[in-house]
Amino acid sequence: MLTKQLAKSLAESAHRAASESSGSQRWCPHDPTPKQRLFLDLDCLEALYGGAAGGGKSDALLMDALAFADVPGYSALLLRRTYTDLALPGAIMDRSHEWLAGTAAHWTDKDKRWTFPSGATLVFGYLDGPRDHFRYMSSEFQYIGFDEVTQFEERHYTYLFSRLRRTKGVEVPLRQRCATNPGGIGHDWVKRRFIDEPAERQFIPARLDDNPYLDAVEYERSLANLDPITWKQLREGAWIRDTTGLVYHSFRDDSRVDRLPELPPGERWYYVLGCDFGVTDPTAYVELAFTEHSDTVYVTRAEQWKDLHPSGAAEKAKEWQAKLPDEYDAIVGDTGGLGKGYEAEWMHRFYMPMRAAAKGDKLGYIKLLNGDLHHLKVRFLNGFTDDLVKDLRALSWKDEKHKEEHPSQDNHLTDALLYGWREARHWAWEERPEPVADPHNEPNRAHEQRKAAMIRRNERRMEMEDGYGHEADDNDWILGP
Ligand SMILES: Nc1ncnc2c1ncn2[C@@H]1O[C@H](COP(=O)(O)OP(=O)(O)OP(=O)(O)O)[C@@H](O)[C@H]1O
Ligand SMILES: [Mg+2]
Repeated sequence: MLTKQLAKSLAESAHRAASESSGSQRWCPHDPTPKQRLFLDLDCLEALYGGAAGGGKSDALLMDALAFADVPGYSALLLRRTYTDLALPGAIMDRSHEWLAGTAAHWTDKDKRWTFPSGATLVFGYLDGPRDHFRYMSSEFQYIGFDEVTQFEERHYTYLFSRLRRTKGVEVPLRQRCATNPGGIGHDWVKRRFIDEPAERQFIPARLDDNPYLDAVEYERSLANLDPITWKQLREGAWIRDTTGLVYHSFRDDSRVDRLPELPPGERWYYVLGCDFGVTDPTAYVELAFTEHSDTVYVTRAEQWKDLHPSGAAEKAKEWQAKLPDEYDAIVGDTGGLGKGYEAEWMHRFYMPMRAAAKGDKLGYIKLLNGDLHHLKVRFLNGFTDDLVKDLRALSWKDEKHKEEHPSQDNHLTDALLYGWREARHWAWEERPEPVADPHNEPNRAHEQRKAAMIRRNERRMEMEDGYGHEADDNDWILGP
């Protein structure tokens, strides 16, 4: 049996030999640039070639996929996010045709697959819908390459690790490789994974000047038309975030807190639970806390579950409530359509009344919530709201006009937040009064103040709802006026 060390060095020398002479050079008409060579020579499991546009990243990904095309049993997969991206002229699949047409490699269009005389294969694929990764469920590859990886979600990327396997007797290294410019829906996770917390992973920064084959002067001229952020991302390969395509673009990292602030004696937190129910989709809950003397709302918990039936959903809400010092002041949920079953179940079995979530003018309320996010009027409790924060930072618009959220991205937690925040936000907050002089009278007085504030809050909410949006009675959000 081969020792691990021996197998590794065998694989390394096979890789080098394959990519230097007999291997990729036969299938690839380009000589790698020094930067590309650096990428091709990496022997780690995961690597990113990322940065400026035009540096030769996609070329390197294709060269790398072909490195073991002469090894029987080798299989490689190259992915783009959508079929449209994959089929673009000049993109990586089209480029493979420029390189391999007329060679002994054979193309099967139905499977988007090249088969080499050795029997090795190179397949092109995409991962557009939320369940697309299951398409690769029964496959195995020794090389998986993601071109423009910041267009993918991290769960797709990590799921494909399960497809990275070696068939018995195929002595090639297992490699997952990516190429990309900064920006895009996956910018944050890609930056975290490869740049901020690289661990064993390798990052090769790409620069435009790395690629002598590009007409740099002409390309510079085209890049000059870009907005400043995109210019910095594409020209300089700067890992800065472009938030313009994000639905909740005003979310700020400094809105995250480790605990709720202390309240003066006699004051309490009011809690609201926002629920977005799903039958095939997950059911998501977001809990918010606020006081009557502050315009800041704290998001204290957020979680979602798959396959949660109505009584299970009610149980979850009871579990959450049991951890609070008091009952929820309001539970708001998507009570139209499928949500009706949940509402009835809650009332009949647990007597937990649920209000119909206000659903009118979603776009208007997204704008208002963005305003509050920008002014740090919504704070998120670290460790309890991380999945929600992840979705807030990733959810992007589908269209340029920013009217529709991207259908392949999760918006269950963000919708539950919007329901809860519409209910909880500072409709009637008032400046904190002077401290009470008589400490013996304090509880009564605080109680009276609370009651009055709740009444005012409800009146204000009704006024605002009347003046702002119209309630929807179906199961869908109303996206625009
Ligand atoms: N080693 C090479 N030899 C010859 N041409 C190359 C080489 N590397 C890249 N090129 C060519 O330079 C151009 C830009 O390369 P490529 O598309 O790989 O860059 P990129 O970094 O992926 O760009 P983008 O950021 O736009 O995706 C392409 O036409 C490509 O074929
Ligand atoms: Mg590219």
